[in-house]
Amino acid sequence: MVTSISYLFDPVLLGDDARKLLPDNYVIRPLAQDDFSKGYTDLLAVLTTVGDVSEAMFNGKPHGAGLPTYYHVSHFNAANPCEHTRVSSLPATTAAITPRKDTFQSMLSSRNYYIVVVEDLAARRIVAHIEDVVVAKDQQGKKLGSIIVNQLLDLAKALGCYKTILDCSPENAPFYNKLGLVEKGLQMARYY
Ligand code: ACO
Repeated sequence: MVTSISYLFDPVLLGDDARKLLPDNYVIRPLAQDDFSKGYTDLLAVLTTVGDVSEAMFNGKPHGAGLPTYYHVSHFNAANPCEHTRVSSLPATTAAITPRKDTFQSMLSSRNYYIVVVEDLAARRIVAHIEDVVVAKDQQGKKLGSIIVNQLLDLAKALGCYKTILDCSPENAPFYNKLGLVEKGLQMARYY
């Protein structure tokens, strides 16, 4: 199955000039729906305080309730001051910042946002997610669980992931703590 990437605007608008100036392994393109997982808000946090924006919030529907404020790096196009182009890059960056409460979907549907990112393909910002770790009852306590989780952590690192996340019950937290994982944030869920 071919999955199409959802860009904030048509990449054709960017032309070729900037692309030709970039070093190997860098691409310039519009902000994409999956850039949250590549560290988009982490990048903005280099410049300023970014609210507690989850991936669901970033991707969420327009005008969602309770959205925290986060910030866009803004760069005004000197050649055409009427054109307000927001520019950021992964990793690196620029100028003035403006508080926003926009989600990717609200920016997309407004057709009025032109956020351009430069992505370092060699430093992929991919997140690994570990699920369903289980050791047979009569094999538990033999370090098999530790070995398999450490194997997965090494694999994630080798694949270029910048972090590994997992969800577990509070009872299992000490097991993962011993493997160097620490509690971060809070998991939210809604079942139907
Ligand atoms: N709470 C506290 N400490 C624990 C726990 C626990 N639940 N489980 C293991 N430990 C400790 C061990 O005592 C050991 O400590 P030590 O190094 O000081 O001796 C250390 O963690 C390593 O234990 P292992 O022998 O590697 O653990 P094991 O092979 O038994 O696997 C596992 C642990 C995977 C949690 C196993 O008990 C299991 O399959 N449980 C049932 C299924 C489950 O709950 N899986 C985790 C779901 S979360 C997820 O999948 C992301």
